[in-house]
Amino acid sequence: MKKISCAILGYGDRGSCYGAYANNEPEELEVVAIIDVSEHRRQKGKEDYNLQDHQLFDNLDEFLAANITCDVVINSTMDQMHYETTMKLLDKGYNVLLEKPVTGKVEELLAIRQKAEEKNCEVIVCHVLRYTPYYSTIKQVVDSGRLGKIMNIQLNEHVWHGHFVNAFVRGKWRSEKECGSGLLLAKCCHDTDLMCWLNNVTTPVFVSSFGSKSMYTEANAPEGATQYCYECPHRDTCMFNAEKFELEKDFCPQYTWADTHKPWQELTEEEKREFLKKDTYGQCVYKVDMDIVDRQCVSVEFANGSVGTLNLVGGASKAGRHIHIICEFGEIVGYVEDNKVIVRTFDQDEVWYHDEILDLSEEYDAGDVDNSVTGHYGGDYHIMKDLVRYLNGEGTSVATTVIQDSVNSHLICYAAEKARKEKVVVNLKTEY
Ligand SMILES: NC(=O)c1ccc[n+]([C@@H]2O[C@H](COP(=O)([O-])OP(=O)(O)OC[C@H]3O[C@@H](n4cnc5c(N)ncnc54)[C@H](O)[C@@H]3O)[C@@H](O)[C@H]2O)c1
Repeated sequence: MKKISCAILGYGDRGSCYGAYANNEPEELEVVAIIDVSEHRRQKGKEDYNLQDHQLFDNLDEFLAANITCDVVINSTMDQMHYETTMKLLDKGYNVLLEKPVTGKVEELLAIRQKAEEKNCEVIVCHVLRYTPYYSTIKQVVDSGRLGKIMNIQLNEHVWHGHFVNAFVRGKWRSEKECGSGLLLAKCCHDTDLMCWLNNVTTPVFVSSFGSKSMYTEANAPEGATQYCYECPHRDTCMFNAEKFELEKDFCPQYTWADTHKPWQELTEEEKREFLKKDTYGQCVYKVDMDIVDRQCVSVEFANGSVGTLNLVGGASKAGRHIHIICEFGEIVGYVEDNKVIVRTFDQDEVWYHDEILDLSEEYDAGDVDNSVTGHYGGDYHIMKDLVRYLNGEGTSVATTVIQDSVNSHLICYAAEKARKEKVVVNLKTEY
């Protein structure tokens, strides 16, 4: 197997997760360039992969002009940059491993697909959950046909409040206007993807959806609360007080301190305290300029009559992705966090049903590798393993998600947003 070479565009949180594969599996992947506007992130990339200065670029155009040869460019820039940067990369003939969501606009999604076809390039979307031992086991059970066809798929995504506040209330995904993605697309295009992938004997047709921002609203702020927590009369009792939530607990430091433009590990407490006095991360969760919903449900009817539902809730006390698939002759049930899949079949002799438990705890660990590649229940590691195999011409695995496969999951998200805002049912076939 040939070693795959990659460049990483956007060496932030995600870019470094994927790049870490090169250090854990040096026979399989090497990083040949880092492209990032941030000086400290370029320097981090230089150290991580032992690069020379001529392999570092502070903008994409400079990289494109340098005509660097590599098998794939990992595009791990933020959502709103995906379209422009991916089109440029495809124009130059690069294969792209593209972070999800592809884009918030249907015309851009279709244009990327068309450009990839024209240029005969691959665009592989980072729907990392597909690659986990957990969901690929479920896919194998579905595809084995032993339970018959899917009648109903129920998915729940409960986003833990530490994650939700740091990413979606105070964080960089809080504004659809700025980042180009609403909550559903940013958080759950993974789940709409799972729904379409698991049920890919058919295609989604009708979508309805409800949801709103009802928790993190001004109306829920305690009386007299101020915009910034450091001067708020409720700071000793409010669980979201930034001093407690961001400084002491420091749940998601890679998000919270990113706009200090320094590696967060090097920040002093005083620098963090000062930052919270002027940044969104120091603001009241009920007053911050968040323009996305904090809960949403989506219903999908497929062409063969099967139906799927997705419940997305932000701010839950415990994180959890739950799945329940009901097929003609049995069911598949589980919480991904438990690493156990229950395969339930009819049992007419003794009890009403029989549960077979598939314990995936050992599979969860990607092996003796750095933690940075075991994220997403092992999906961050396994997508890279799959990418290396795929670019070596070993064909697509059951999980490989080329751009065509990502279209339906994204269309469901766009349709759900229309359905939610306009209180209508959207027909994907006539709408897009
Ligand atoms: N697959 C998943 O499950 C998953 C999980 C989290 C985030 N994401 C997605 O991954 C993407 C990246 O998220 P992140 O948290 O790593 O973001 P990040 O902010 O940590 O990283 C983005 C990087 O891009 C760099 N950058 C900004 N402008 C640039 C430019 N003009 N040219 C080059 N570099 C530039 C920034 O300096 C930063 O280093 C987003 O689209 C996000 O939605 C996917």
